Amino acid sequence: MIAASPPQHSRGRSLPLAEAAPRAAARTVRISLTDRCDLACLYCRPSRSDGYLEKRLDDNAWHTMARALVQSGVRRVRITGGEPLLHPRVVERVAFIASLGVEDLALTTNATRLLALARPLRVAGLHRITVSVDSLVAERFERITRGGQLAAVLDGVDAAREAGFAEVKSNTVVLRGENDDELADIVAWACARGVVPRFIELMRVGEGARLPAEALVGASEMRQRLAHLLADEAGVPDPDRGPARYVPLRSDPKLRVGFITGSTDTFCASCDRLRVASDGVLRPCLATNDGVPAMSLARSGDVNGIVGAIADAWALKPAGDTWKGCTESSAADVSMRAIGG
Ligand code: 5AD
Repeated sequence: MIAASPPQHSRGRSLPLAEAAPRAAARTVRISLTDRCDLACLYCRPSRSDGYLEKRLDDNAWHTMARALVQSGVRRVRITGGEPLLHPRVVERVAFIASLGVEDLALTTNATRLLALARPLRVAGLHRITVSVDSLVAERFERITRGGQLAAVLDGVDAAREAGFAEVKSNTVVLRGENDDELADIVAWACARGVVPRFIELMRVGEGARLPAEALVGASEMRQRLAHLLADEAGVPDPDRGPARYVPLRSDPKLRVGFITGSTDTFCASCDRLRVASDGVLRPCLATNDGVPAMSLARSGDVNGIVGAIADAWALKPAGDTWKGCTESSAADVSMRAIGG
């Protein structure tokens, strides 16, 4: 049976639940390997000493969880954190998921350790990688990340390009007054390297909800700033690849810039994502703390029990046509770092 919820997780009583036609099943999952991170970005956490989850899935429990996810029909996996490359066995875990035969296996990282790990991750079977790059100016990068060293991150991106991933993308959370004058520079930097740049609206999730409202730069303003570079077209999503919408460059339509509008738009209706926190809680939605704890099932090796818990978590998924995603007030109480963004 499902273990009792720890106090920070409620069972979704407050949510408008999907009614007549609940979405079929989770096909895409984000698995957080650890909530630990070696950075403390302004929009994510207040400092580097804001506390961590007490327990994480050990190797056997994690293998049980991964098997149950695939048995439930999950076909696309993204490994996240915290910072997933801080996990001592990240390469083995990628190899394990790859051995289960998923369609798509990706990872999001801050790249501070990517220089050494890019090649081993590729060899282990990782298909795609996304790197957070919030500024190309070293002092700004250090300020936004509270201590990060840009040079190490850029070396990590180069290592990823050389390792032969099917795709390398960058994520930039755009913050007014911090990096909003760098959009064109980031596009030029990324496109010159075969990296797909993506710009993310600040979401009022966790620490992001504590930044001043003016910090948000909406995607339409971002597009105005990039109008000289971008085709005058509506963005289109990649099928089965999450909420980003991509716009081609005027100079070369094969090159694209992505926008993720978690604050001015919501994409709940098409969301097929489940999240697995590093403590084994199955979470149906980024914007609430609702979830189904599955740590004890995972520890006892109960694959079928977790399949049931996944269905329970899925049933908690908010109704996509009425739920307003990360603009709901419940999002302010969510820790992005604990559930992996
Ligand atoms: N708003 C928008 N994006 C965020 N991320 C983390 N916190 C926020 C927030 N409040 C992004 C990171 C990273 C991805 C995992 O999530 O920049 O690229």
